[in-house]
Amino acid sequence: MTALPFTHQYLPGESGRTLLLLHGTGGDENDLLPLGRELDQASALLSPRGQVLENGHRRFFRRLAEGVFDLEDLRRRAQELADFIVAASDRYGIAREEMVAVGYSNGANIAATILLLHPEILRRAILFRPIVPLIPEVLPDLADARVFLAGGKEDPIMNPGETTRLADLLQSAGAEVTTELLDAGHGLTPTDLVLAKRWLATR
Ligand code: MLT
Repeated sequence: MTALPFTHQYLPGESGRTLLLLHGTGGDENDLLPLGRELDQASALLSPRGQVLENGHRRFFRRLAEGVFDLEDLRRRAQELADFIVAASDRYGIAREEMVAVGYSNGANIAATILLLHPEILRRAILFRPIVPLIPEVLPDLADARVFLAGGKEDPIMNPGETTRLADLLQSAGAEVTTELLDAGHGLTPTDLVLAKRWLATR
């Protein structure tokens, strides 16, 4: 059996749903497993490790400075992650229509990129502290996509206005978007979890 292209964790679940967990800068494939379990006890968890190293910190794509992305690298890495999602779905028998991406910060930004560039791969996502990663040349058709976004009003890294900008972009592509701006910074809070869990329970 050939190895899948990303180091990852896969924990089987008891329902048809799989959460695709995408960590933030400096994290790895183990980081979001407890969060995934907290969000949904029954779902399978698929958690790849970002393949870019920035001063020893793992990420999903290169950046030139804080909030300034290497767009060529972002496009290439998003394609690679999309290919991994397809290959892992075949390997583990994952129903992709039941997959929900759960991304934090850098992980939220690569998930948003997949929604924008590879909408056939992913239709559901929970994005914690995202920004607009890129503007696609052609707006994707996200007519049946559903996205939950949570920004922090006091976030010193991700301007919460970016969360709203991303919500507008996804909405203009037809997605059903739920946006929450919380009294929080960049880190996740119990309120993030409560709201995301509530959203997930209705999907
Ligand atoms: C990013 O690079 O994706 C964002 O700036 C968030 C971060 O990872 O610090």
